[in-house]
Amino acid sequence: MDDTQKLENEIAAAIGAASDEAALEAVRVDALGKKGRVSLLMRGLGKMSPEERQIAGPALNALKTRLNELIATRKDVLAEAALNARLETERLDMSLPARARTQGRIHPVSQVMDEVAVIFGDMGFAVAEGPDIEDDFHNFTALNFPPGHPARDQHDTFFLNEKEDGEQMVLRTHTSPVQIRTMVAAVERAKKTGGDLEPIRIIAPGRTYRCDSDQTHTPMFHQVEGLVIDKETHMGHLKGCLADFAATFFETEVKTRFRPHHFPFTEPSAEMDIGYERKDGQILIGQGDQWMEILGSGMVHPNVLTSVGIDPDVYQGFAFGMGIDRLAMLKYGIPDLRDFFAADARWLKHYGFSPLLQPNLATGLSS
Ligand code: PHE
Repeated sequence: MDDTQKLENEIAAAIGAASDEAALEAVRVDALGKKGRVSLLMRGLGKMSPEERQIAGPALNALKTRLNELIATRKDVLAEAALNARLETERLDMSLPARARTQGRIHPVSQVMDEVAVIFGDMGFAVAEGPDIEDDFHNFTALNFPPGHPARDQHDTFFLNEKEDGEQMVLRTHTSPVQIRTMVAAVERAKKTGGDLEPIRIIAPGRTYRCDSDQTHTPMFHQVEGLVIDKETHMGHLKGCLADFAATFFETEVKTRFRPHHFPFTEPSAEMDIGYERKDGQILIGQGDQWMEILGSGMVHPNVLTSVGIDPDVYQGFAFGMGIDRLAMLKYGIPDLRDFFAADARWLKHYGFSPLLQPNLATGLSS
């Protein structure tokens, strides 16, 4: 039994000395594994006499149990130490600054388009769209510019190569062709359902193109078209609607003025000016006695209604078109139009808008 006691002491010492779980496992295998020292002793039981075995058997079993307990306890200690060591090295440094996020900005043109859509949306206008590449019919002929009409020349049109069937396509010179597309679609809908023409009330924001470039003109620019068609709408509605628009859009008192003008597709026609003043090279809206034109408008010409199959003796309405870039320059004091399209990130950072602030009439269009 002395030998057994010595063996137990030795193994217990080895267990205590094991410095990690792998070393402990080696000690366990050496003692209790298939060919371990304790296992070999147990194997020797078979050769003993029944009397000897009755004493040695329980003693060895008890030894085995004690060693297993020692190993389990040591294992817990080592596992906890290992975990603590890992936690120590894997500690997160919460004071480290977060990675900087690059933030996008909304371009003033997009911002103004959204603001305009919010204002007219509140008045019951829907948003319509048309293609940038137009045919001659939609851009000119249906708008009462017959072929050869001198007003066509004022549009500095970009012409595209003629199509195989000889059709002349252009980059649209204004958003007015969307008036035509909208009315044609409404007429078709009415034909299909056999009902009356539904009242039309749309705005159409988008890109437009003219061969022109200086501080206030770029070959590509933006307009928003408006069109209202029903049986009653008259010039008073036009004036009220656009004056209301200006008052809301500029977010300050503005003076407006309607001035007679001429467009082939409206009769009568008017341009709307807003009062402003120039002070230290800055444009100040809502004061002063100078006038700046911001839109063209008028009652839709009977020839235009006829060209899309609407009876001008029954239906009437108004249309308007304004330059979005011009509105943005005025409202946000941006002096040079060409900078709008120079794709300079510093310019956009300065003049751009937070994507998180959606224009709305409840909390403000631009704040
Ligand atoms: N299309 C005209 C332009 O580009 C503006 C306009 C639209 C005028 C609708 C009257 C009615 O100058």
